[in-house]
Amino acid sequence: MGWFVAIVGSVIVGLAAVRFWRAWVRPWKDLEQLVQDVINGRAPRTFLVNGNRSAQRIGVALEDVFLRQQELAKRADEDELNIRAILSAMRDGLAVVDADGRVRLLNRALRELFAISEDPVGANLLQTFRDTLVVEAVTRTLRTGEPATESINLRDHSTNGDRRVAITSLPMPKEDGAGYGAVVLFHDVTQLQQLEQVRREFVSNVSHELRTPLSIFRGYLETLIDEPELAPDERERILRVMEKHSMRLHSLVDDLLSLARLEAPDPQLNFAPLVIDEWLRHIATEWEKKAGGKQLRIVAEIEHDVPNILADEARLEEVVHNLLDNAVKYSKAGRQVTIRAARDGAENVAISVADEGIGIAAADLPRIFERFYRADKARSREVGGTGLGLAIVKHIAQLHGGSVEAQSQLGRGTTIRVILPIAGHIATS
Ligand SMILES: Nc1ncnc2c1ncn2[C@@H]1O[C@H](COP(=O)(O)OP(=O)(O)O)[C@@H](O)[C@H]1O
Ligand SMILES: [Mg+2]
Repeated sequence: MGWFVAIVGSVIVGLAAVRFWRAWVRPWKDLEQLVQDVINGRAPRTFLVNGNRSAQRIGVALEDVFLRQQELAKRADEDELNIRAILSAMRDGLAVVDADGRVRLLNRALRELFAISEDPVGANLLQTFRDTLVVEAVTRTLRTGEPATESINLRDHSTNGDRRVAITSLPMPKEDGAGYGAVVLFHDVTQLQQLEQVRREFVSNVSHELRTPLSIFRGYLETLIDEPELAPDERERILRVMEKHSMRLHSLVDDLLSLARLEAPDPQLNFAPLVIDEWLRHIATEWEKKAGGKQLRIVAEIEHDVPNILADEARLEEVVHNLLDNAVKYSKAGRQVTIRAARDGAENVAISVADEGIGIAAADLPRIFERFYRADKARSREVGGTGLGLAIVKHIAQLHGGSVEAQSQLGRGTTIRVILPIAGHIATS
């Protein structure tokens, strides 16, 4: 009897222990596992917890927490993707620097600007930028919490030229309010500076070009007024010089007006189909007469099936006149000048003027299309040049959607090619 009671007793105790384990121990163990999963961002098989109502409710709440956490993580990923897309699309360089002066983020433009290949995240400013002016500007912001600006020169490794970069370092207060990080912007102002330089040079060139003939006029006029008894041949010489300078002044004003019209927001070109063959032969004949005095031969070589192009005839005539004018001016007597027109690839026609004249030194060649650039100033002036002809040529070619090229050998001759699209693709700028 006694052993029977003992067995029943232990069975009851055992059953009670199992029930207790199911109701109170297992649910909490399951919950503990669920919490671990949620912390690690792992999706558990189920959030259903058996055996205990309050544990069940906590399980349901945990599922809610887990889903929300997942949603937030997704949104954070999207935000990060968006920020990365914006940063890498930016043309300006951007860096984020923490309060300890360590680089936390760099966009692609900045890597390219400083030719940074390895990942600099966590590196200090000097290691990253190797430029004390950058370090000083950013350090000032980190120390004072004030914006700082600076300008630096950088070597452009792709072109081997210099780049001018404006830096703006902006304070970024730390979340705990203790100190500042910085967002640093790098803006390439090379082109802007070059434009400003070109503008300044242009104004000073124009003033100089106008002043020279005017002061010559004044000097000679004074002589003519003060010395009425001047010998006739001296008077003749003075008048000839004045005539030459007045003609140069006239050409200068014409060229300046021409350039101003071409650079206007709406240069008003009249595009129409142009029969190149007829048109060029006509110009060649005209010029043959003009160049006759210098005993130069003007030859037209027009490819027999050269296509018509869409062009502003008057403007293109200005182009060919400028090129022929140079060819004639910079050639000695007895030489030949050749005007060619031929297809250039599938889409273009090339019109070129080749001479056997003095040629252009390799060092000057890349600059001859700049306004007022002359390989030989004295010579250009002597032959009545303004230094604007080729700038006008280039401008007109570009307004036709085309381009210009120059080839030359000193002492051998020069060829200038104007490449124009057949379909008359018109530049809008
Ligand atoms: N056919 C050529 N032969 C030699 N030099 C040339 C020729 N065309 C242009 N150049 C050089 O390029 C410079 C610029 O040409 P351009 O703009 O027409 O000005 P310019 O009024 O002096 O002729 C000239 O001053 C000259 O030095
Ligand atoms: Mg010229």
